[in-house]
Amino acid sequence: MSNEEGHPVLNPSGATQAIEPPEGATAVGTGKGGVGKSTVAAHLAGESAAAGHRTLLICVTGQDDDDLGIKRYGCGVQPQGVTALDGEGLYRAIHDRVPLQPIREVRPNLDVLPGGPRVADIANVLMLRLMQEGPGVVLSLARSLAPIAPLYDRIIFDSAPEQDALEQLVLAAARTLIVPTRSDESSIKGMERISKNFKVVKQQVNPYLQMAGAFLYGSNPSATLMHSSVREDIRTTLGEGTPILETIVGYREVPARNARKKGLLFGEYAELLPNTASAYDVKAGRAKAEDVVPDTIIPLSKEMRSLTTEIFEHHRRVA
Ligand SMILES: Nc1ncnc2c1ncn2[C@@H]1O[C@H](COP(=O)(O)OP(=O)(O)OP(=O)(O)O)[C@@H](O)[C@H]1O
Ligand SMILES: [Mg+2]
Repeated sequence: MSNEEGHPVLNPSGATQAIEPPEGATAVGTGKGGVGKSTVAAHLAGESAAAGHRTLLICVTGQDDDDLGIKRYGCGVQPQGVTALDGEGLYRAIHDRVPLQPIREVRPNLDVLPGGPRVADIANVLMLRLMQEGPGVVLSLARSLAPIAPLYDRIIFDSAPEQDALEQLVLAAARTLIVPTRSDESSIKGMERISKNFKVVKQQVNPYLQMAGAFLYGSNPSATLMHSSVREDIRTTLGEGTPILETIVGYREVPARNARKKGLLFGEYAELLPNTASAYDVKAGRAKAEDVVPDTIIPLSKEMRSLTTEIFEHHRRVA
């Protein structure tokens, strides 16, 4: 069966039979906003691609943070004749029930489906279909991913907080879930939501889904007493057996903000340090604030590299 443009239509019946997710498909998710999901997802994808693995980043998020400079700096090759920006690519694939068409080579080995405002409409499509087709609609992303998944060694999903339908859509397509959290109460509470969605999806449509672990993000690396207490909170919320990662990426607002504004990953931004502009250049109108590369990008990029390495090593052990 095909749609008007001749693309094959994927399982229009909405049946709930399981689709085995690709081996290296990892979702970054928690039910709370602003804890570092998009930053970590972009860095996992970037590090994976830089290590030579064919990688796909899928951002099921209503906000496009553009950590990779796709929109601002035109990185990557758009699919022919259509745009994948602003969540359009994701929306079209789900709405038309066709394979995903990512933006290719955003970095060497890295293809991306960016998030954006159009992703919010996916929830409406799912809601309408749910009434006619039943719970199998949650597999819509998994179905659109399946035809292109063999092209990739790793697939990383970024996810939207506080939206059960979109969280479940991602979990239905992923093999593992990795959960970032900040130390505050509401971030810990946010894990309850992803935990609930994890159980529902695993039970109903994706028995392959595994909890790969959780980690504390954006914290003072020397606050070790507090880290122990947060680890206890994580285990209480996600279950005693939840693996908890060691690496703590510090809270370093200026380099994190600047790197995102530049559309660069932390390691890429750190490479600009030797030729940084000065505060004087900014005052004189010759440079922008984000052109002044702070020294703190060095520890930030090192910590992020440790985190992504730990996550991938941990995944190898889980696998
Ligand atoms: N290590 C860090 N230190 C300080 N700020 C950071 C750090 N990493 C990321 N940030 C900033 O924190 C903010 C939230 O990060 P991010 O967008 O990754 O979170 P999120 O969980 O994806 O948020 P949302 O739920 O809104 O999608 C961003 O402004 C980001 O630039
Ligand atoms: Mg985000």
